[in-house]
Amino acid sequence: MDKNALTKLSYGMYVVGTKDSERFCGCIANSLIQITAEPVTIALSINHNNYTNECIKKTKEFSICVLDEKINPLIIGTFGFRSARDFDKFENVPYEVVEGLPVCTEGCAYLLCRVINTTETTTHTIFIADVRECKTTKDDTPMTYAYYHNVIKGKSPKNAPTYIA
Ligand SMILES: Cc1cc2nc3c(=O)[nH]c(=O)nc-3n(C[C@H](O)[C@H](O)[C@H](O)COP(=O)(O)O)c2cc1C
Repeated sequence: MDKNALTKLSYGMYVVGTKDSERFCGCIANSLIQITAEPVTIALSINHNNYTNECIKKTKEFSICVLDEKINPLIIGTFGFRSARDFDKFENVPYEVVEGLPVCTEGCAYLLCRVINTTETTTHTIFIADVRECKTTKDDTPMTYAYYHNVIKGKSPKNAPTYIA
């Protein structure tokens, strides 16, 4: 199988925001798509080992911050390469609380989502969620996964669904 063909698929770059009983948490995700228009529904793939998965299963809600090309790359380092199990990711990151969910403010839009269904794969949970609110916050260009790899020269860890060894 020519796995290089998979690098031709397109994605955006997002900070998923969620919470546990004590604090806000979340992670970077690129595997997110809008799947229906009426009602607005999205699908998000989150690794079983990510703390974010546990938190979304408990709370059944999450926010999505659409990252733009001008973001501080440290956001991706903080949310994409460390776990909130032992680290407060939002401590040094600009965010606001919208309807009880943390929304990273380093992006050009946000969505507030409520889980309506889940599907398990071998490694990831697919969260299917209604978008109950969404808002454009800046005119900046949304960052694509390709931009992250080709311009920022970023890497993806093993827990990303699109990881290629
Ligand atoms: C560019 C990039 C894309 C990623 N995409 C996903 C994704 O779509 N789904 C996922 O579960 N993890 C993805 N990750 C990995 C998680 O962000 C990472 O495992 C994070 O440390 C999990 O943190 P947590 O344990 O606090 O949830 C991605 C990471 C990067 C850097």
